[in-house]
Amino acid sequence: MSAFYVTTPIYYVNANPHLGHAYTTIIADALARFHKMLGEKTLFLTGTDEHGDKIVQAAEKNSLSPREFVDEISSRFSSLWSKLDIAHDCFVRTTDERHKKAVQNFLQQVYDSGDIYFGEFGGFYCYGCERFYTEKELQDGLCPQHLTKPQFISEKNYFFRMSKYLPWLKSYLEAHPNFIRPSRYYSESMAMLESGALEDLCISRPKSRLTWGIELPFDRNYVCYVWFDALISYISGIGWPDKKEFENYWPAEHLVAKDILKPHAIFWPCMLKSAGIPLYRHLDVHGYWLSRNTKMSKSLGNVVDPMEAQSRYGLDAFRYFLLREMHFGSDASFSEESLIGRINADLANDLGNLFSRVLSMCAKFLHSVAPKISVLESADQEIRRLCENVLRNYYQFFLDVRFDQALESLWDLVRALNKYVDSQAPWSLHKNGQTERLGTVIAVLLCAMKKIALFLWPVMPKASCAMLVQLGENGQPGEAPCKNLEQEIHTFNPLAYGQKLASSSNLFPRVEQNTQADSFSSMDGQKTEYTQKSSQNDSARKSEITIQDFACLDIQIGTIIFAEAHPNADRILRLEVDFGEAKPRQILSALADYYQPKDLPGKQVCAILNLAPRKIRGLLSYGMILTVKDDEKLCLLTPGQTVSNGSEVS
Ligand code: MSP
Repeated sequence: MSAFYVTTPIYYVNANPHLGHAYTTIIADALARFHKMLGEKTLFLTGTDEHGDKIVQAAEKNSLSPREFVDEISSRFSSLWSKLDIAHDCFVRTTDERHKKAVQNFLQQVYDSGDIYFGEFGGFYCYGCERFYTEKELQDGLCPQHLTKPQFISEKNYFFRMSKYLPWLKSYLEAHPNFIRPSRYYSESMAMLESGALEDLCISRPKSRLTWGIELPFDRNYVCYVWFDALISYISGIGWPDKKEFENYWPAEHLVAKDILKPHAIFWPCMLKSAGIPLYRHLDVHGYWLSRNTKMSKSLGNVVDPMEAQSRYGLDAFRYFLLREMHFGSDASFSEESLIGRINADLANDLGNLFSRVLSMCAKFLHSVAPKISVLESADQEIRRLCENVLRNYYQFFLDVRFDQALESLWDLVRALNKYVDSQAPWSLHKNGQTERLGTVIAVLLCAMKKIALFLWPVMPKASCAMLVQLGENGQPGEAPCKNLEQEIHTFNPLAYGQKLASSSNLFPRVEQNTQADSFSSMDGQKTEYTQKSSQNDSARKSEITIQDFACLDIQIGTIIFAEAHPNADRILRLEVDFGEAKPRQILSALADYYQPKDLPGKQVCAILNLAPRKIRGLLSYGMILTVKDDEKLCLLTPGQTVSNGSEVS
């Protein structure tokens, strides 16, 4: 079985995570999920970069010790990832003991091979970048990243003989034009190599100036330069030098934005070469998310809080938007308007509408069961051919990390299916008694819809599973719905004849532009601070929801058809509840102190269905039953009179 290892940058913990960090991490998640669906064993690493001047300064500002400060911010990153459905396997922190040992090991190895020397150096130091610049690299005497005046520092330090490897790296890049993608960043890297501005790399900081770092194994008076330390996390996080995982998974696919092209395109390959470690597989470089036409950054006060965006519009829609909107490699602008535009056009009008109209026709004309397919006419053959072409393109674009193009291509199919519905007019076929033809048209639609649902799993894991479940298939957001995606491109097998389908679908409700709601572009420094404050105080947050927040909740009425005690949790009951879907849902609820399992079947309950599935003592719960509690008792919230299962609470 082949392996796939993907990494995000390990993020600085000097500030809270924002949309830029979320984007890289979501695309890494999508890529890992995609490779899982190819049947590969995958590993996904992210983490936090916790050493250096910047962190010490940020800790001081917050009156915390560096250790307290990094623990706090690092945990904000990891908890955000779980809220964004990010299924990473490793979370590396540069303050982990295992990482420190690996860095010292690496340094010693490079030192022993003669690639590290001690020397005196004077250079222009930018505290923002935590690195020296040569005079040639400065723009009008200023740091090109921060546009601030660097300080001239002269001191004795250790240097990595990077210049020794630059000619080799140039030839390597010439022979591997696909190593850095998209090509503009390959060209930029080549230009750096050809500029003659690159020199040996200063890899130490005297402890007299900085103590918050990893001590050099060959000189206790120095700590390691933060970038040298951080890059090694890509291998330390998977157990280099001695753990099997490193052997099984390296080399990695690295995802970064253009701000950190140089350390990844130049420093890291030279470091790996010097240590005798094979190079990474690709460096995939994306542009910046802009807000109000400027790179999102805390110092500019224009950051977008990914939690706020996803809770307002739904996680899957948010993930879809990010992957669809940014042309990989170029900058993209984030605005609430464009997010709503995509939700309404692509998700509600195109995809959601396709599922809704086809499933409601199945309910009306076919009792919600998958029909038999018979002879394919030319319009059906065309859909079949389009489906294969689109999926082939999608697959290739995904391999090439061109997510926007992959989705654009998939939507050619979604739109063509909506047109096919119009042209084949199943309602007329039904009216005219053309049952066989009606069956074939619907079967073609259902087959293509299943492909769409499968291929969307990396991008929208929950919506993909909801679609599959509506089609009567199995689907759990945490598990790849297939392990042979490549094969799915070429097959066109109808759903099993007689398979039960959902009777309706409302996957992506339209969003009305809310002129009263704060727009994301107004989430400036002040607003962000407020958001962060309120997130520490749940009751403050509760008072603040908008109508859109409420619309994000999928609350429905269902009938309990089975109840039993949870085998491993005393207070929990395992319920099976019918919401009019293809199958009853399993929901776990802490009802055991108040209800006997035998008294529950037949009762109607109210439940939130679009909560992320939660595992409770080994069993998964796909929703949350709503209850009311006063001082003594707890009871189920039920409708005033019996209503159909699946009725929405609004
Ligand atoms: N700690 C280093 C990385 C070390 S990797 C061995 C670092 N950290 S960072 O917190 O500044 O993260 C930079 C990365 O965050 C970018 O490369 C990108 O992945 C993501 N983004 C941060 N802001 C961004 C935008 N405005 N737009 C898109 N992504 C950006 O550099």
